[in-house]
Amino acid sequence: NKGNYEHYMQKEIHEQPESLTTTMRGRLIRGGSCKAKTVLLGGLKDHLKTIRRSRRIVFVGCGTSYNAALAARPILEELSGVPVTMEIASDLVDRQGPIYREDTAVFVSQSGETADTLLAFEYALENGALCVGITNTVGSAIARHTHCGVHINAGAEIGVASTKAYTSQIVVMAMLALAIGGDAISSQARREAIIDGLFDLPNRVREVLKLDHEMKDLAKLLMAEQSLLVFGRGYNYATALEGALKVKEVALMHSEGMLAGEMKHGPLALVDENLPIIVIATRDTCFRLQTAVIQQLHARKGRLIVMCSKGDAASVSPGESCRVIEVPQVEDCLQPVVNIVPLQLLAYHLTVLKGYNVDQPRNLAKSVTTQ
Ligand code: UD1
Ligand code: F6R
Repeated sequence: NKGNYEHYMQKEIHEQPESLTTTMRGRLIRGGSCKAKTVLLGGLKDHLKTIRRSRRIVFVGCGTSYNAALAARPILEELSGVPVTMEIASDLVDRQGPIYREDTAVFVSQSGETADTLLAFEYALENGALCVGITNTVGSAIARHTHCGVHINAGAEIGVASTKAYTSQIVVMAMLALAIGGDAISSQARREAIIDGLFDLPNRVREVLKLDHEMKDLAKLLMAEQSLLVFGRGYNYATALEGALKVKEVALMHSEGMLAGEMKHGPLALVDENLPIIVIATRDTCFRLQTAVIQQLHARKGRLIVMCSKGDAASVSPGESCRVIEVPQVEDCLQPVVNIVPLQLLAYHLTVLKGYNVDQPRNLAKSVTTQ
């Protein structure tokens, strides 16, 4: 049921304040003034000790689910104290990459039925790793066969392009980082700030959704283009990959997400006055580096669209030709949840303007059950 919306993708983008609320329901505990703020993930509570003692946490997924894990990686590294590595499911299986008994392998999958992810899971299981699932689908293969896990509870996702599952996956993995991190005094203030940020997140997403018309205007400007680049780094490297994936899969437009730190190592050669480039430069420890990237792209006459925190438009914009997307600022590790929304809206509007099928892009299936 699409309700008042024309397409499922549109509905699922706009219902993110509600889906995020359901994802967090009953799992965040904010007591009175003297009571600690904590996270409770029922599916993991008996396994947290094992996860904390593991030698490594390996995230495994495909497409958007992989990108969600990539977005959560920095906060997991920070709070867990355990090294975190990333594997694209098919690549892990192709390489028969090393997985050990002392590893915790986390399988991220909206459908819980993706063939590549299931093969990687069977491989990790054979190698003796603790296998954790993060899935949206109760009763799916991943949910049933992993040792333990967390349901993201985002509600059914019908549009082939994953949107609300992505933001709920990131939130679950941020909660996972809090749960693994335990209650060390040294990180208490940071943990409380993240929990406050999580409580506030649905409202911030409601706020960023107001950019809908602005993103439609941007889509009109970009719809005739052949190609689009998205530069991000740090917490928002994943936002660049995921934004570009959305644009290519539904708007059928070539689009690449790139690590801004790699710009000078090749991609800079592509920059001219025609190729549109989105640079994500919201406030965090990478902000100064991103403003330098904007200056360098501007010096080469790059056609820039900058995403920045509210109030930063004047300080990030290198000139009148630069378009700016201002988004609400949230706790740094949660910023990817806010930042992806304008890019989801952009991909949606590009597709509708071009007259393509937004809910069922050509050649794609919602659940990829073959290799
Ligand atoms: C569970 C109930 C929820 C109830 C809540 C009350 C289910 C599906 N969830 O939620 O309805 O309101 O208790 O306390 O009945 N699991 C895996 N792999 C996965 C995902 C989950 O093994 O990929 C396992 C978990 O380890 C857990 C069970 O499935 O044993 C349910 O997980 P989850 O729904 O996340 O647990 P709760 O949030 O506690
Ligand atoms: C992108 C998309 C795909 C899926 C990928 C994994 O919008 O939908 O990239 O994310 O096929 O699917 P799940 O999460 O079901 O394992």
